[in-house]
Formats: sequence, structure tokens, C-alpha cells
Amino acid sequence: MVCKELGPLDNVVVEERATPVPGPGQVVVDVRAAGVNYVDGLICQGRYQMKPAVPFVPGGEIAGVVSAVGDGVTRVGVGDRVMAMTGFGAFAEQVTVAVSALDSVPDALGFSQAAAFIQSYCTAWFALARRITVSEGEWVLVLGAGGGIGLAAVDVALELGARVVAAASSAEKLEAARRMGAHATVEYESEDLKSRVRELTDGGVDVVVDPVGGGHSEPALRATKSFGRFCVIGFASGPIASVPLNQVLLNNRTVVGVDWGAWAMGDPDGHRAMVDELIEMVQSGRLHPVEPAERPLDQAAEVMGALLDRTVTGKVVLVP
Ligand SMILES: NC(=O)c1ccc[n+]([C@@H]2O[C@H](COP(=O)([O-])OP(=O)(O)OC[C@H]3O[C@@H](n4cnc5c(N)ncnc54)[C@H](OP(=O)(O)O)[C@@H]3O)[C@@H](O)[C@H]2O)c1
Repeated sequence: MVCKELGPLDNVVVEERATPVPGPGQVVVDVRAAGVNYVDGLICQGRYQMKPAVPFVPGGEIAGVVSAVGDGVTRVGVGDRVMAMTGFGAFAEQVTVAVSALDSVPDALGFSQAAAFIQSYCTAWFALARRITVSEGEWVLVLGAGGGIGLAAVDVALELGARVVAAASSAEKLEAARRMGAHATVEYESEDLKSRVRELTDGGVDVVVDPVGGGHSEPALRATKSFGRFCVIGFASGPIASVPLNQVLLNNRTVVGVDWGAWAMGDPDGHRAMVDELIEMVQSGRLHPVEPAERPLDQAAEVMGALLDRTVTGKVVLVP
């Protein structure tokens, strides 16, 4: 799938390309599933801070089987099940990847789960176990809890021993969060987020995970109690909230920025160790990535559009 021009998503079209040949230190992966993330649609629309030169193949996350290896590659071989963040190039039948970017697909995961794992779980874990520490028994409020980051954050918070309030816009998304194990739910488009969360948690939450932004951020901050921590993860609703700083001062709250991607690029060894830690937790049954919906590769534009239109619950992968 090639993005010919930044702008409307129907600029993303099918194109035939020659089979790639791996260079030194690279492998070619036959893609079995490519994870679609919110950011992919923003990039193709030209609404993301990074604007790639066109034409380019969008998509940044894959799982598949190694079909060719370049010179000097010893860590993996043809036939190995691998997953990777690729930067670009994922919405294709084959992609060339630096061997340093590959991880083995854990036996516990199918290709579709693996292709939707790294971005969501790394972000959630980086937020709740690296940028802050969540203690056993604390209340964690997750906004957009039926989305990719949201469901991963519910899972991670539960693994850390927290109790979770899931907030989302539909019964279907809240049900997905409940299936993941959330203790309580708030439908934040029709219920008053701040007062409902305070009621459900006997006075407020200890931590907020916010990948949504907009009008939900301030009521969520106001729903945190003494020494509460508010994790700023993203702005899927569009507007970047401005909160009155007295709401940070009151109750000794802390607002924490979470930029997993920048950290991962700046500390590749630390990131690799974190991915290994997450894979180990999946293997031992401590984390439970959702089973994504599978759609044909040539529906890339529709799926990116559905994420931007807020109609997706959980994760979607493209299957060549
Ligand atoms: N900080 C980091 O390191 C990091 C890493 C990866 C991604 N992100 C960012 O985190 C955000 C969420 O990513 P994601 O993968 O979880 O996306 P997602 O699966 O599409 O989920 C986003 C959720 O946001 C909510 N939302 C509210 N208003 C929306 C609107 N107008 N349009 C679309 N969604 C809306 C939706 O839930 P409701 O309908 O229930 O409100 C949706 O489920 C994105 O902005 C992404 O760029 C940040």
C-alpha cells in the first residue's frame, strides 16, 4: 500500500513492487500481519509532526516469517517467526528490516496479536512502570480504555496490582475493558467523569492514563486525589488540553509526560531490555494482548480512517 500524496486517505493505493533484497545486517520478512496504529492515519494525512517524503509505504509494526537474510545476519534465520517496529513499510506483503529491530514472536502470541503488541504495550508499560510507579491497590483511571493504548494500559495496571476504572465513549468499548479486567467503568460522553470516578473509587484515583486529551483531561485530573499522577500520553480526540495549574498544585498532584518513541530511539539498549521484559510477561501469562480484528491489506485506508473516526474497539491488523 503506497501513500502517493499526503492528504485524503484515498491517496493510499495498491502498487506492485519488486521483491526486496536484504542488504548487510538486514532481513526480508514475509508479513503475516501489520498492526494499524492511530498515528499511521495522521502521517498519511500530513497531520503528524513528521512528514515523510512521498511516495512511501505506511505502517510501522509487523509480525511475520523471515524469508531472506543479508550478509552478516546470524541472530535469525529463514523461517523464524519475528515481530518488529519498522518505522515505515509495514503495509506490504514483504518488508526489509534491520536485524537489530527484530524480536522473536512469543509462542503465546499469534501473528496478529504480535503485530499489535509492541507500540501499545511499550507505551503503557513505559508510562506505568518507568515514568511513574504504580503500587498495589492504587486506583488507575484509563481514558480511551477501549482503544489500543487504553486496553494495554488496563492490562498493565492490573498486572501491577492496581484497581482500574475504564472510561470510554461506548458500551462496546467499556465491555472490552471489562473483559480485560477493569473493575469499574464510566461512559464519559454521557456521565460526569469527575464526579462518577470519585463515587466509584471512594474519593478519587491515584493515577490517570490519558491518550485522549481534549475535554476529558481536566475532569480526569480533578478526579485524582492527594499525590495523584497524571500521565499525558496522546491527544486522539484532537485538541491538546490546557489545564489550570492550580489543579496541579492542589492535592500535590504531578503531571508526567510520556514519550515512549523518543525514549526508545535515544536508549535502544534500554528499550530492547524493556521489550524482552514484556515478552517474558506475555509468555508467563501475566499480560493478555487482545486478539485484533483482521482485515485485508488493501483496506489500509479504510482501517486508518476508522481509527481516526473513533469506530474501532481494540486493535486491527492488516493481513496480506
Ligand atoms: N506518548 C506515546 O509514547 C504514545 C505512543 C503511541 C501512541 N500515542 C498516542 O496515543 C493516542 C492513542 O493511540 P491508540 O493507539 O490508543 O489509538 P486508538 O486505538 O485509536 O484509541 C484512541 C481512543 O481515543 C478515543 N478518542 C476520543 N476522541 C476521539 C476522536 N475524536 N478520534 C479518535 N479517537 C478518539 C477513542 O476512545 P473513545 O471513543 O472511547 O473516546 C479511541 O478508542 C494517539 O494520539 C497516539 O498518537 C502516544
